[in-house]
Order: sequence, then structure tokens, then C-alpha cells
Amino acid sequence: MSKTKVIYTCQSCGAQAPKWSGQCGDCKAWNSFIEDIKPATSGRHARLQGYAGNQSAITTLSDVKFTEQTYIPTHFAELDRVLGGGIVPGAVILIGGDPGIGKSTILLQTLCHLSQQHKTLYITGEESMQQVTMRARRLDLPEDKLQLLTETNVERIINTAQQEQPQIIAIDSIQTMYTELLQSAPGGVGQVRESTAQLVQFAKKTNTILFLIGHVTKEGALAGPRVLEHMVDTVLYFEGDSNQRFRMLRAIKNRFGAVNELGVFAMSDRGLREVSNPSAIFLSRDTEPAPGSIIMATWEGTRPMLVEVQALVDTSHLGNPRRVTLGLEANRLSMLLAVLNRHGGVATYDQDVFVNVVGGVRITETASDLACVLAILSSLRNKPLPQDLIVFGEVGLAGELRPVQSGQERLREAAKHGFKRAIVPKANAPKEKLGDMEIIGVTRLDEALNHI
Ligand code: TYD
Ligand code: MG
Repeated sequence: MSKTKVIYTCQSCGAQAPKWSGQCGDCKAWNSFIEDIKPATSGRHARLQGYAGNQSAITTLSDVKFTEQTYIPTHFAELDRVLGGGIVPGAVILIGGDPGIGKSTILLQTLCHLSQQHKTLYITGEESMQQVTMRARRLDLPEDKLQLLTETNVERIINTAQQEQPQIIAIDSIQTMYTELLQSAPGGVGQVRESTAQLVQFAKKTNTILFLIGHVTKEGALAGPRVLEHMVDTVLYFEGDSNQRFRMLRAIKNRFGAVNELGVFAMSDRGLREVSNPSAIFLSRDTEPAPGSIIMATWEGTRPMLVEVQALVDTSHLGNPRRVTLGLEANRLSMLLAVLNRHGGVATYDQDVFVNVVGGVRITETASDLACVLAILSSLRNKPLPQDLIVFGEVGLAGELRPVQSGQERLREAAKHGFKRAIVPKANAPKEKLGDMEIIGVTRLDEALNHI
């Protein structure tokens, strides 16, 4: 076997150099070089890449034969929802998240059940076999069929898989894996990328389902500046505070289903449990109505969810008053405060403003604008909002209220949970009545403020 040549590739512009240097000569980016493999024209790597000199065959779209995708259910309905209906054979699924959020737990729970029907191999590079077994026993999982392997060498893993031919392989975690093709330490960008590439190639060739667990860096990206996300079919992120009970699993890339789909789980002493009616949980409110709190209907993937938005507005003693958001975008808050000042006549330049979405939920859509503004106003005036009120809607820079997608479904979810009043953009208000709910359609922000 010919020795593989190592080169260094710039992460920002793709320039290549035979030696590592601190700054890229082409794009002047600092610290951007990572160890890489030079594609050889012969030898093992070339065979892996499949260009041993022969020509490739071309087909037209209509000539491609394929069988209808069958989805394998995972025992967790919430996980199936995030995956787009279940696991597709040959899919490569990456699960990312902070340490201690529950990646290994959900993987073990899923695999133990999947192993009852499919040959499953769980490769752990982080925990010992005893630790995995102990956890499975404590969670009362069916453990008679799941095959375990402690290994971190990718070549040996692939050799083992070639012999054993499992239908499902799970790697916990990809950062502990290394390939002999590179000399650098496991966990580095080069190692992670090359290890993933080899495993993905094997999975695709053999139509094996591959689960990868990935750690998240301090900046929130999967280690190896998002390189992994391009190589896999599905990327799921675990969100939520590891100190809190609720964990949200979000699909941020999915070749087999909708993205931004959200699955809700709760961590209990018996592992992760799914929460099939998330609205009910995020709504567990005090009986006393409090100023600065409001319920909004948000849209997550393919279903509505009711969440509570809270604001606290307090006199600032700083030259630059604080604007803090948790679960919302900070820039959007600054924008909303400007709109509130200009079109609602409410000044907050001498106030600290904090906005929080209860339960660790992260809202990524603009429908939260109206809830934010009303919560801020309620806190500023120290007047509680009616408890049976639900709102949603995007606020534009001209002070107009813009409609959002799936207004009907949001309102129906609110009616189901007993809300009696709704303030929504006019275009989202239905023509006919919805139960006994009073729906107020408004076109401008000041109109909405007048209704409160
Ligand atoms: P784990 O799946 O090991 O996290 P990750 O692999 O993402 O790093 O989850 C560990 C956390 O979950 C740990 O803080 C303990 C908690 N946990 C429970 O509360 N109950 C349980 O039944 C299990 C298995 C874990
Ligand atoms: Mg783990």
C-alpha cells in the first residue's frame, strides 16, 4: 500500500499547502489550516474514492430504478416525527448536542428496541461496556439482542462491520474515532472529517443505517466547522438546558423529511420520555396572572405549540441599557423596541429589557413579535394581561402587523386549550367563528395595543 500524502487545507478558502502555517497565504485567514489527505491516484484511498481510472456510467433521471422508501419506526413517536416518519435504510443520522443533554441515552433507548428486529451494533468510544450495560439495565431496556463494541479505530470498525453485516451501526461519539490515514490526534477536524467520510461511504455502499453522535463546540457548532453536516443525510440537535427536564430534538437538515421539526422529550429517572402534547406542559402557569407574561402560538415544523413569553422591563442605571433575550433573537428585540417607540409611542431608552421563552424553548420564527411587544408593554405598565388571551403575528418596521403561516391551526390549538380571546394579524383571522373564541384581527401595532 502506498503511503498517503498529508497536506494542509485552508478552511475558509480551500487553498492547499504542503506545510502547516498559522496564516493562509491566499485569503490571509488565521489558524485555518487543517490536516488533510491528498487524493492519491493509486492505492487504497483512490479505490475508496472510486476513481481508479475507469469511466463512470451516466443515466437519465427516468431510468433510475428505485423501490418505495420504507420507514423503520424507532419506538419513539417524537423521534419518528423529527426524522420525517422513521429511519430510511442507508440513512446517516447525526445527533448533536451539549454534553449531558441525553444523546447517549436516547441512542441506547432507541437501539435496544430496534435491535429486537434488526441486527444492531453499538460502538462506544466514550463509555465502557459496563457503563452502557448498567444504564440499559437501570432503564429496563431489552438488552438481549444489542451487540456492543468498544473501538475507536475506524478501519477496524469497518472490517468488523463487513464481517458482521449489521443493519444498524451507531457510533458514540465521532470525536473519539480516528483513522490510520492521518497522524493527528482524535477529535481534530481532519480526523473527524476523514473518519466520518469513511464510515458514511461504508454505510452508503452497504445500505446500512448509521447513527453518529457528535459533540458541540463552545460556539455551538458540531466540532469541525460544520464539516459533518454536509456529509450526512440528517442532522438532529438536542436543545434545552441540561439542568432542566425538557429536551427538544430539532431537525436542522433532513433529506427524508421536513426540517425544523421539533420533538419534545422529558428526562426522567428512567431515561428519556416523549412528550406528545407539548403545549400542555409549557403552559403550566401560576394561578395568579403576572405582568409581563403572555401565551403565544408558535409553529414548529408541522404542528402548533403554545408557549409562554415573559418580559421584564426595569429602570436601567447603565448608559447602555441591557437588552437580553433567551430563546429569541436579540437583534429582533432591539428592532421591536424601536418599532414600539416610533409606532406605539412607548419609550424604553432608559429601561433594561429582558425577554425569555419559558421552558428553554427556542423560537426561530417572526410570529413571536407581537407576543414580545405585548409582554414588554405589560411589564412596563405593571399590568397583567388577560390569562385567556393568545397572540401571534409578525411586526413590520412600519408598525404594520403581518400574517404568518398556518394561522388557522394555531388558533385551533389555542381553542383546544381553552383560550377565549386572540389578537392576530387581520389576514390570519378566520371568516367564520372558531368555537366560543373571540378573534380580533388587527392590521397595525397601535390597534393591537388599544385592544389591551
Ligand atoms: P447522556 O445521554 O449521557 O448525555 P450525552 O451523551 O449527551 O453527554 O445523559 C446524561 C445525563 O442524563 C446525565 O446528566 C444524567 C441524566 N440522566 C437522567 O437524568 N436519567 C436517566 O435515566 C439517564 C440515563 C440519564
Ligand atoms: Mg454520551
